[in-house]
Amino acid sequence: MDLKKLKNSAAKEIKAAEDLKSLQELFKKYLGKQGELTQILRSLKDLPKRERIMVGKEANEVKNSLSLEFDEREAELKDREVKAAQEKEWIDVTAPGKKIPTGSLHPLTQARRKAEEIFQSMGFEVAEGPDIETEWYNFDALNIPKDHPARDVWDTFYLKNGFLLRTHTSPVQVRYMEKNNPPLRIIVPGTVYRHEATDPSHEFQLQQIEGLMVDKNISVANLKAIVGEFFKRFFEKDIDFRLRPDFFPFTEPSFDISITCLVCKGKGCPVCKESGWLEVAGAGMVHPNVFKAAGLVPGQWQGWAFGFGLERLVMLKHKINDIRLFRSGDLRFLKQF
Ligand code: DAH
Repeated sequence: MDLKKLKNSAAKEIKAAEDLKSLQELFKKYLGKQGELTQILRSLKDLPKRERIMVGKEANEVKNSLSLEFDEREAELKDREVKAAQEKEWIDVTAPGKKIPTGSLHPLTQARRKAEEIFQSMGFEVAEGPDIETEWYNFDALNIPKDHPARDVWDTFYLKNGFLLRTHTSPVQVRYMEKNNPPLRIIVPGTVYRHEATDPSHEFQLQQIEGLMVDKNISVANLKAIVGEFFKRFFEKDIDFRLRPDFFPFTEPSFDISITCLVCKGKGCPVCKESGWLEVAGAGMVHPNVFKAAGLVPGQWQGWAFGFGLERLVMLKHKINDIRLFRSGDLRFLKQF
């Protein structure tokens, strides 16, 4: 066996090893227990003495030199591996942070919460009722008898077995009064449904805020005071508003509440149909039949109620011209709030 040849080819292979694993294989091949050089060293004992000394010396030199080569290459490859890993995991700690887009509350949610805050500060409790209602609570208990034309005012989604999707939040007035004795002050934010064709000012799913205040001596003056305070704080400025006679079966007398058009400041424009006023709510003094339906003695109590359309309020506040934008899911719209 030519030791020089072995040394040269081994040295070449060691230099060419591209990773630690192949280097390990090479080590096994030459210096391992069954390695080529190990076998030579082991066979030395069979040689005549003189030869043994010469070959033995050379073989040991080869072994030492190869060991060195192995160590060197191993250090190189390890170094390379560490550098590669560092490069891969390198973090530029001076780089500016990535801005993670965050969501925000829907404008209607923001407005509902604001309204809740305002009314709560005036002693009102926030109550809720079911979206799926019975005809009794949605109509009969509110003094809207069956087959009465007033029922047609609300384009109703009827479900099976006498259920329906509530067309307004007013049924919660009765539900609440059944369980709670006056004096009471509540607002009821909630979704209502109407079987309507949609256009810039009509949606089939709306948010309302119902209000109800019942006590011994409640008057329209109380209604005006509370509603005026609400407008001022909701719109964050003084707002002119007016009550005009209207008709609702569940109130007597009934009113519609209008505010000065916020777009033209009352001068008249297309938004307010040149009237200078915008209707934002229905209201009135609770009808005795509603008290009766809720199990209260009408003569003992007086109360007022109102129902605001929340979309309308938000549209006026932010000058939004299409009600359908609220449920469009369009982020360009939503991101503005
Ligand atoms: N429920 C009525 C509607 O949806 C609004 C309304 C009118 C509510 C007068 C009231 C009220 O509480 O007193 O059109």
